[in-house]
Amino acid sequence: MIELFDNPREDKKSDRPAPKSLVKFRQIYQDAMAGAGEEKNKAQKAKGKFTARERLSYLLDRDSFFEIKSLVESNCHDFGVSDKHIKGDGVITGFGRINGRPVAIFAQDFTQLGGSLGLAHAKKIADIMDKALEAKIPVIGLLDSGGARIQEGVSSLDGYGEIFYRNVKASGVIPQISVILGPCAGGAVYSPALTDFIFMVEGISHMFVTGPSVVKAATGEEVDFDTLGGSKPHSEQSGVCQFVAKSEQDCFRQVRELLSFLPQNNQENPPLETTTDITDRPVHVLERVCEMDPKKAFRIHHVIWRLADNYEFFEIHQNFAKNVVTGFIRMGGEVVGVVANNPAHLGGALDCDASDKAARFIRFLNAFNIPILTLVDIGGYLPGVQQEHGGIIRHGAKLLYAYAEATVPKVTLVLRKAYGGAYIAMGSKYLRGDFNFAFPSAEIAVMGPRGAVEILYSKDLKKEEDPQKKEAMKEKLTQEYSDKFASPYQTAMNGSIDEIIEPSEARAKIISALRILKNKRDPRKHTNTGNIPL
Ligand code: HXC
Repeated sequence: MIELFDNPREDKKSDRPAPKSLVKFRQIYQDAMAGAGEEKNKAQKAKGKFTARERLSYLLDRDSFFEIKSLVESNCHDFGVSDKHIKGDGVITGFGRINGRPVAIFAQDFTQLGGSLGLAHAKKIADIMDKALEAKIPVIGLLDSGGARIQEGVSSLDGYGEIFYRNVKASGVIPQISVILGPCAGGAVYSPALTDFIFMVEGISHMFVTGPSVVKAATGEEVDFDTLGGSKPHSEQSGVCQFVAKSEQDCFRQVRELLSFLPQNNQENPPLETTTDITDRPVHVLERVCEMDPKKAFRIHHVIWRLADNYEFFEIHQNFAKNVVTGFIRMGGEVVGVVANNPAHLGGALDCDASDKAARFIRFLNAFNIPILTLVDIGGYLPGVQQEHGGIIRHGAKLLYAYAEATVPKVTLVLRKAYGGAYIAMGSKYLRGDFNFAFPSAEIAVMGPRGAVEILYSKDLKKEEDPQKKEAMKEKLTQEYSDKFASPYQTAMNGSIDEIIEPSEARAKIISALRILKNKRDPRKHTNTGNIPL
């Protein structure tokens, strides 16, 4: 028998030459870690991008990354792909920690065959997703790829199919985050699109189903990469990406911050933080909301900041459909998802994009056990042919559906106005708001007083021919209508509002409500999914 150790407690580096197997192993790994080499790395840097390994080290907690399947190679013999012996097949996969919590991660390596996705590459991503689902930890993709590996033909398309399937399987079970750090073209865009959040970086991220040359051939339109699929069009117009960063480092900071609000999976609650902010801190400044002309625009962010612990608000979809604001705050240390009309943009009215934006966020919150705070200041749906033909009926229905199906705690506060269908849509009592509050200034009615008067008294108004007298009559009737209906009192009397509150007590009241509702549902019990009007 050979004794391995003279002293079992001692462990120091041996002076003996390393055994052959170790030498071989170390060499193989050194080659694998070197990637495509200096020249390719330089080309990557010249595009203003980090290498895949640098990205992992910047995003993850220090020294926390451990890689798996680094020696996987392509089995494709066509066009000499397998002869190149690309270790890892253009994607690095493994696990790490962010804010001390484990995540699964993959990083496509553009320096290796353009980060293109062949079958082995796809299988590595699929494997990491399977493990993330089993371990119930978030999965993060760093995407930088020319798309389906052309040399591998349909196998690479099949690979995408495997990934899409897993994106859907993991949806609502573990958070899925896509970080676009280069090209993401063709059907490849649909994996990120199936995940919960997409980040893009100005100047380096591009997403499109068909690139500029195909667009030109098909439609004659001349467009460059940035204009077609850069971070600006996708954050402002299409709404494809929720976050834009100025640089990769800025992007990683935002990813880390986002994760700090999320539970690891749908069976956990989001992380509780101890806060130094006082729970019943009065917010006297909100009394100004009551003084304001209900038609006057103001940024809803001012209200959100004041309600939040330490005035901190992490906004999502900041540049898209700005008439509704969505994001995370903490209140009394608990994570809360905020959905708020923003009077500063289109008067906070609901349109197709805003309905989609809010509905998707609410569904995310519901999946991951995050309470919803709705701040209402809305005159109604955005009128117009464009909206009607654009499908406001279909898109608006998504919002109703999302609120009604959500079983997480729902607290709603009406600030100045809540009219008509939009009042019902914005987390109202009968969509099962748990606590519905209103400021004394809240006008809650079937429609705005002036519009109501024009309909109710149309015959009387027509009879009056003198324009001045007609206007005076309108004013008087409008005032009468406002006094009776455009207030929170009638709604409070019939119980559709649980309580009219002092604005200065809003933070304290909301936190109390959320604390009461803390055990409202068992996070493990989810309702069946219905047929949302997509
Ligand atoms: C194989 C690819 C590749 C691909 C790039 N490369 N894309 N190899 N399959 N899809 C290789 C290049 O040949 C080159 O190899 C290296 O990656 C770097 O590419 P460059 O063109 O030199 O880089 P750049 O100028 O920065 O242009 C990047 C690019 C361009 C815009 C992504 O490479 C490009 O247009 N590629 C094709 C994109 C595409 O059409 N993909 C298929 C989409 S369809 P060498 O050896 O010279 O360094 C699709 C379907 C998915 O993805 C469907 C899912 C359902």
